[in-house]
Amino acid sequence: TDGLILVVGSLNADLVVQTARFPQPGETLTGSELRVIPGGKGANQAVAAGRLGGNVAMVGALGADANGALLRDSVEASGVDTAHVASLDGVATGTAVITVDGAGENTIIVSPGANGKLGIAELDAAAELFERAAILCLSLEVELDVVLEAARRARAAGARVLLNLSPYGPVPDELLGLTNILLINEHEAADLLGLTPEQVLAEGGKHTRAALTERGIPRAVVTAGAAGSIVFDGATRDGADAVPVASPKVTAVDTTGCGDAFMGSLALRLAAGDHLAVAAGYAATVGSFAATRAGAQASYPTPEELAAFLATHG
Ligand code: RIB
Ligand code: NA
Repeated sequence: TDGLILVVGSLNADLVVQTARFPQPGETLTGSELRVIPGGKGANQAVAAGRLGGNVAMVGALGADANGALLRDSVEASGVDTAHVASLDGVATGTAVITVDGAGENTIIVSPGANGKLGIAELDAAAELFERAAILCLSLEVELDVVLEAARRARAAGARVLLNLSPYGPVPDELLGLTNILLINEHEAADLLGLTPEQVLAEGGKHTRAALTERGIPRAVVTAGAAGSIVFDGATRDGADAVPVASPKVTAVDTTGCGDAFMGSLALRLAAGDHLAVAAGYAATVGSFAATRAGAQASYPTPEELAAFLATHG
């Protein structure tokens, strides 16, 4: 490998409107001017890692339309190799309809479009990337059979697999078995492990450790937004390997894509050889930075911006 971070996943145009509060069912509110900006969990991860200097390639699918050009430009401008991002005829680029409220929280509805057409043929075409990959980043906005096959191929080629279980849904045990490091938030952890969100974080993550071990998942990072994260980096049952990682405190403007910023920058530091807890500390900083600005990819830092942020929030 040459330390390549390979992202197989989605690219979306985010259609974003801000409102002071979210509408109730049946209610109409007037919001801000519409922004059409680059997003999608896969593209966000790739951009986060690429902008910070990572060696990154992406496999994905766009429509042959204006939103597709917007996404390709954004990903390429961050230094990501997009040679294996397909432009498909007869299907729209994926879109996400997003509302952001006055507290920086969001609601998101995704229309998969071209992301739903990404298939095994595109993985075949990208075989040389799998040969070179050190780390594969996966999330769940493309078809599950593609996610699973990508994980198989990456492991067969000796790469580590990072899986973000988002948007949350049931996944085959085989996928969890192929995953080296699972990235989940406290709600996803609760669903996956049959715990309450409170139990997930309680007693330094003791219950979570036991439940992860039960499911055969030795390494995971559970994020809890401003509350920080817990890194599980071993296989003991007593929670001794559950390491808390703080998130720098910020005033959130827009948390859209913060999890993807965390994932991409985690992959970056893992590819550089950091231990998981050290990489997670860096990723927490990048995730917090992303919350201070509007948008997903638009909010991710350059190395210079991250250094300036660390100088005041480190
Ligand atoms: O994780 C944030 C992303 O989720 C947004 O950019 C949106 O495209 C949805 O995929
Ligand atoms: Na943001």
